[in-house]
Amino acid sequence: MGLSGSSKTSTARSMANQWTYSDRAGTGNALSSETMSEPMIRLEHVSKTFPGTAEPAVGDLSLDIHEGEIVVLVGPSGCGKTTTLKMINRVIEPTSGTISIGGRDAATVAPHKLRLEIGYVIQQIGLFPHKTIGQNIATVPRLLGWDAGRIAERVDELIDLVGLGQEMGDRYPSELSGGQQQRVGVARALAADPPVLLMDEPFGAVDPIVRARLQEELLRLQARVQKTIVFVTHDIDEAIQLGDRVALLNVGGVLEQYGPPDELLREPASEFVAQFLGSDRGIKRLSLIPISSVELARGPVVAPGSTVLEARRVMEVYATDWVAVGEGRRIDGWVAADDLDGREGIDDGPLRVFRTRIDAGGTLKQALDAVITTRTQVAAVFDGDSYLGMITADQINREIRR
Ligand SMILES: Nc1ncnc2c1ncn2[C@@H]1O[C@H](COP(=O)(O)OP(=O)(O)O)[C@@H](O)[C@H]1O
Ligand SMILES: [Mg+2]
Repeated sequence: MGLSGSSKTSTARSMANQWTYSDRAGTGNALSSETMSEPMIRLEHVSKTFPGTAEPAVGDLSLDIHEGEIVVLVGPSGCGKTTTLKMINRVIEPTSGTISIGGRDAATVAPHKLRLEIGYVIQQIGLFPHKTIGQNIATVPRLLGWDAGRIAERVDELIDLVGLGQEMGDRYPSELSGGQQQRVGVARALAADPPVLLMDEPFGAVDPIVRARLQEELLRLQARVQKTIVFVTHDIDEAIQLGDRVALLNVGGVLEQYGPPDELLREPASEFVAQFLGSDRGIKRLSLIPISSVELARGPVVAPGSTVLEARRVMEVYATDWVAVGEGRRIDGWVAADDLDGREGIDDGPLRVFRTRIDAGGTLKQALDAVITTRTQVAAVFDGDSYLGMITADQINREIRR
């Protein structure tokens, strides 16, 4: 069924192919995985007990994060997500255990060096208010001593990459919306092309519509830049949408389950995981299944000019009380069984239109919505004007049970 995170990024990847930008600001970073088999980030028995506290914020956490994947740390407030993230770039020093990045023990790399090589995005954004957007984005390249021409070029690239207009470069942070500021935060973190990006609830402060857009943009961006991203959130829906793998943490940094989102939804490892995922686990799973992964039925369709008798036979075969009219990839509309009383040919009266058209690029969650809300009780799937087939409640039910 192709439910792994890679199916999600391949969707984003195909969208990203339409972009013209090419991200090639190689900076010769010291941090790159030496071998494919070695994880980009490895936490081994990491713990953190803050001074003056009895219980560890993170008890004994081991976690492997591979190059190029988005791993989402998710869990209730206070479970140690931020602490874990900050131990990776040594903003917080672990009490015990080892963290290696690109095969090197992070404890042996000077913190200021480490932080130049790891992008960091936080909710409060932390843009410098008295610097322009361009100057904000240029922060790390400047610290690295790039020449002015190269910095200017990179800033232009990044402004494009995160979907801001070039005219934003000379503005100040207060002159941008929250969503725009968040994009600048991402651009700044990517400036020196670090292999690793740490993101701590980066979209927590923006409204749900902007948040959804930023999430989609992040997946598109990731398809281009292929960073190793550790993303922290307390929002399980965000974790499911963004994560190639999701690490679900309990209080004390206890790792309850670690795997692709579909695996958590299909087989929660504990009652805690099941509770955290919520009672609509099955429906959440549907949002991970692309329509392209299920076989579409042609459905009850008759050609224009068919007789009512033929139409009734087709309805019988498909056990429906309606029939669509069309030919090949063209669908003209549909007729209810009741409409046919008194007609001889299917064309002897008006057709109804499929009001809910599901796009071929959508998910089974959207298909389910159509099945529930439409009179025909199917999701009619289109690629533009071209009819591809339909999805029924039975099919969705089968996918949920897989
Ligand atoms: N500097 C600190 N000093 C003492 N306790 C802290 C400090 N930072 C975090 N904590 C505690 O550690 C636990 C984990 O915090 P945090 O990692 O921020 O959780 P999360 O990001 O998952 O909400 C919490 O109980 C928090 O109160
Ligand atoms: Mg936090």
